[in-house]
Amino acid sequence: MMKITDTIKVGPYTLQSRIVMPPMATGFGRGLVDKTLAYYKDRAATGAIGMIITEHSYISEVGRAEAEQVSVARDSDIEALKKLAAAVQVNGTVGLVQINHGGSANEAALDAQAIAPSAVPNRRPDIVRRYKDKTPVLPHEMTQDDINTVKDQFVAAALRVKAAGFAGVEIHSAHSYLLSEFYSPLMNHRTDAYTGAAIEGRTQLQTEILEAVRKAVGGDFIVSIRLGAVDDMPGGAVIDDVGAAARRFEAAGADLISI
Ligand SMILES: Cc1cc2nc3c(=O)[nH]c(=O)nc-3n(C[C@H](O)[C@H](O)[C@H](O)COP(=O)(O)O)c2cc1C
Repeated sequence: MMKITDTIKVGPYTLQSRIVMPPMATGFGRGLVDKTLAYYKDRAATGAIGMIITEHSYISEVGRAEAEQVSVARDSDIEALKKLAAAVQVNGTVGLVQINHGGSANEAALDAQAIAPSAVPNRRPDIVRRYKDKTPVLPHEMTQDDINTVKDQFVAAALRVKAAGFAGVEIHSAHSYLLSEFYSPLMNHRTDAYTGAAIEGRTQLQTEILEAVRKAVGGDFIVSIRLGAVDDMPGGAVIDDVGAAARRFEAAGADLISI
């Protein structure tokens, strides 16, 4: 019988157990502070965890969700990321960094900087509360140039994570951030190749990002994607969408899909 302490293969790596620590924003300070490093090191040092996926980190200033977030937006971040890799990857634990664009669910949500698939208010409850008694400032509907820029930013961030010595990267497409806005028919009203009217359109950008990241990082690196599968709102994404999305992500090069 399979045990949680058994090994499991993920992409080119064999994890020492089936225990995976999912990404959780720590918010211990502005960016990567010593307390953050110590927190990850404590957990990896147990030697029990197969994989740690560190908290969502921003790929560009416009895509920054919170002041406390870790940055993967600049080449100058690589030195700090090396410290994070060294903290996480002890006693056999394999480390990934979750990379994210906040879309319209970010600190800029109330200013004119935010970008999104469509110019509609974000539905995430904490953002909705922020709008309360205010007229929401709508995000800019992304042009094809904006989409190309975001793709390049995901690739550049993945390469920084690799340069820092991590075993892999996770692309964040959940929790009403940019890529899950594309996935949600409630937030994606586009009619182009990224159309909100079809599962192919709703997963097109994630698929293109996975293909581009895979091409850039090569085969010896774990590429994961986290998918917020259902909106749990009338007219939103439903569980039946997940199979088609997962098949596309696997074909595009994902080693791991976190639903
Ligand atoms: C404080 C906190 C921060 C989180 N930050 C992230 C994050 O950065 N990225 C992410 O994908 N999920 C994040 N999550 C979601 C967790 O990874 C996990 O899916 C969620 O807590 C549900 O698992 P649980 O029922 O075991 O708590 C966060 C959760 C918490 C409680």
